[in-house]
Amino acid sequence: MAVDHLERRPLVGRAAELARLEEVAAQAKTAFRLVEVVGEPGTGKTRLLGEFTSKRLVLKGRAVEQEREAPFAPLVDALVDRVDAGLASRLSEAETQLLASAFPVLEGTAQEAVVKPRLYRAMRSLLRELAPATVVLDDVHWADEATIELVDYLVRHPLPAPMLLVLAYRPHQVSFRLSRALADQAVKIELGPLSKADVDQLLGPTVSPHARNRLYEESGGNPFYLDTLARELPESARATLAGELAGLGTTEALVAKAAAVAGESFEPSVIAHVAEVSEQAVLQAFDDLVARDVLREVEGSGRFRFRHGVLRQVAYDGAAAGWRHGAHTRIAAYLAKVGAPATRRAEHVVRSAKYGDVEAKDTLVTAARAIATNQPAKAASWYEAARQLATEDDVDIRTELAFCHGVSGRIMPALEMFGAALKTMPEDHESRAPAAAFAALLAHLRGEHDWARLLLTSELNRQPEAPPLRLQLVLDAAMKGEARTAKPFLDAAPDDDRNRWTVPFAALNAYVKTVEGNRFDAVKAVNDAARMVDASDDDEFLTWLPAIHMLSWAEVLIGQHRLALRHFTKAVDLARDNGHLYFLPQLLHGLSFAYVVAGRTADGLAAVEEALESMHPQAGIRGALLGVWCQLQSWRGQHATAVRAGRRAIAAIGDAHPPLASLARNQLLLAQVHAGNHAKAVEEIREHLPKIDPYTRLASCCLLAKADTAHAKHWAEEADRLADGRLDVDVVFRDMAAAYADNDADKALNAAAAAERIGMPLWEATARLHAGTCLARDGRRDEALRELQAAAAMFNVCEASELHATAVREQRRLGVRVPHTGALANTLSPRELDVAELVCAGSTNQQIAEKLVLSVRTVETHLTHIFAKLGVTNRAGVARVLASQNED
Ligand SMILES: Nc1ncnc2c1ncn2[C@@H]1O[C@H](COP(=O)(O)OP(=O)(O)OP(=O)(O)O)[C@@H](O)[C@H]1O
Ligand SMILES: [Mg+2]
Repeated sequence: MAVDHLERRPLVGRAAELARLEEVAAQAKTAFRLVEVVGEPGTGKTRLLGEFTSKRLVLKGRAVEQEREAPFAPLVDALVDRVDAGLASRLSEAETQLLASAFPVLEGTAQEAVVKPRLYRAMRSLLRELAPATVVLDDVHWADEATIELVDYLVRHPLPAPMLLVLAYRPHQVSFRLSRALADQAVKIELGPLSKADVDQLLGPTVSPHARNRLYEESGGNPFYLDTLARELPESARATLAGELAGLGTTEALVAKAAAVAGESFEPSVIAHVAEVSEQAVLQAFDDLVARDVLREVEGSGRFRFRHGVLRQVAYDGAAAGWRHGAHTRIAAYLAKVGAPATRRAEHVVRSAKYGDVEAKDTLVTAARAIATNQPAKAASWYEAARQLATEDDVDIRTELAFCHGVSGRIMPALEMFGAALKTMPEDHESRAPAAAFAALLAHLRGEHDWARLLLTSELNRQPEAPPLRLQLVLDAAMKGEARTAKPFLDAAPDDDRNRWTVPFAALNAYVKTVEGNRFDAVKAVNDAARMVDASDDDEFLTWLPAIHMLSWAEVLIGQHRLALRHFTKAVDLARDNGHLYFLPQLLHGLSFAYVVAGRTADGLAAVEEALESMHPQAGIRGALLGVWCQLQSWRGQHATAVRAGRRAIAAIGDAHPPLASLARNQLLLAQVHAGNHAKAVEEIREHLPKIDPYTRLASCCLLAKADTAHAKHWAEEADRLADGRLDVDVVFRDMAAAYADNDADKALNAAAAAERIGMPLWEATARLHAGTCLARDGRRDEALRELQAAAAMFNVCEASELHATAVREQRRLGVRVPHTGALANTLSPRELDVAELVCAGSTNQQIAEKLVLSVRTVETHLTHIFAKLGVTNRAGVARVLASQNED
């Protein structure tokens, strides 16, 4: 989401509800009052509570699905920091004893079988001692028995003290007992969907009315879904600089126009030619233009440039078209005379050449060829221009142009041109096989799988041995999850002599071995291919992006995560820097996945956002990206978004890409398990398991061992059967499955160690959390604490805030005092802290991006996270929170 927009985003449409809350809060100054805040997932309960509590001191706690067994979990969460010896001294000895099981700090001997009414009475006494106070409990649809009964008790025996107790929950998930208890006594605040006017206000005027309508429709007024949907906001208009140029003298204005035509940077002698004035006059004009900061000297080069590209554009647009044409002609001629390379002349030739000018056409083609690999979009424009000048069609130019279009992501025009070129191209033309192979790949990316297959097979009939065709066939099969069918084409790979096909064949061979055979046996092939890839230069790497992409997935599948992250990163960087956009969504998918594994959730989110926002990827890959989004949000504790994204992922992927579909099912499973929807989780995946590839099935069994407690042993056995103990990644999932099934700390620690070795911090932390819980249960307190602390630290770094909170809560349960939210700034990652500090210093996003060498988009993503973490909605809020931190 464009953060500029988000910053201004206020709480909308909840004025009445807030007023009602305030009203009851005022009454609660003198008496006990109960409020229930009720609404569907994502309607803004938490947000409303946040707004309400930002203005007062409150005791805040929340229930968590995983803690349904823990007595008074949300209350303990809210009160733990207020319950101390001082408070205990005001309670009776018996009450302190009773409460010791919930608050270890009370140092009683926790009692096993307590007479319940006495316990509730003791809790009520505790609350009375805390009065006057506001206690806010969120997510009480997940509250434990004891909390629910306590509320019931409080309804029947209202507290004889001023206190406001606010409970928020989802109506469809709450216990009947709780909602019935509240029905009589509590003030009910129901949060429905936002109105159309609210949505309009939330999105603001920068979103077009059409888009606002669509977003309103699609979100159904649910602010949470709006968040995920409203991610295509227009940039603010660029400032006009024309006024600045209007004040120039005649010669200065002419020289400025000439300079704008000349290029990004220029020498005075060239400008003299273009402007048709003396070099002396140019130098004089430059003095004035530099003094006005229209032009700047390029340090130590004797060249000049405009202060900013936009200013140059304004100057260029200000010149009359006819004059500009002449200027380009003069500069092209001058550059030719001094022997400048075609690439330098091309941009002037493009703007001045005439139909039939053979020399100009050759210049453009030469220039286009020179930059085709590194700037395909620009090369395409020069090829296009060359074709305009030519009197007859040239199949080579047409094919080369088709490649440039395709590589730069203009797939439709590319496919049309390839189609036409293949019709006229001789059977033995050397470009024929590469053209057909690339066309097939592009068709595949557009979801036209049958057409792609047809084209490939018909070309293979013509040239059965052609390496590009065989490579493409393997790639095609791999993407469809039918790698086995591709084996014969790999066996016939060119011999070992290193030639230009060695790298992609080795890469695809490694992938096929990984998915079709024993993964451990594939390790060598993967490592060999990885070494070859690493020895390739950047241009080769670019040429074989799709094959290297498959190799990087193979690296993931054998647990070489660091290697995969490195390769995906390099692939994305090279593709982006060189404008090879056709495959970028796939690469970003791989990269974002590698980020999740590495626990770099913020980077993962940025990668998925980039792919979804800027490239409008085709349904299959779009679904795959949503799958990673699901997984990322799930680790971050955003369960509703995660589950929704997972569902959309599976729907979007459909049947065409079984490997992507398997992955997405596993991702949804993770989200359901994290969300605590265990029954749903099991139900959704069970019938699909047979179709899921063995590796993903192994990962799924691990989650099922947790979710499906009745059959946990079965899933652990299944995991054991699927796992190869020689691969650490398998050990992680196998031993976690066993750890869940048997509540076995040692198994969990074994999984943690394996996860640590191969760099899976989220799983390592999960394993340590589980180990810590088991150890605590076994009374091994010190060991438990060590694991829980390690888990908390890791979850924190990975921004898995809810799991972090769970690990903290487990420590508290062992009687350790952990600061409640910690210093707020500590919850920011180091990078976010950098950004936050620059925000406080008053920097704009653009300035922050420049200082930290990030893209503006990344800065925006960081800001979104900073706002969310600090619970603020604008830059001033960030400054406020950080300032208050520094005072502490
Ligand atoms: N009235 C509002 N104005 C602006 N933003 C809102 C509003 N309500 C909610 N949001 C935003 O929508 C998102 C979802 O809201 P929130 O997390 O409060 O929902 P919730 O009802 O508590 O969901 P759950 O039941 O899953 O906990 C948040 O990003 C929140 O900031
Ligand atoms: Mg909530």
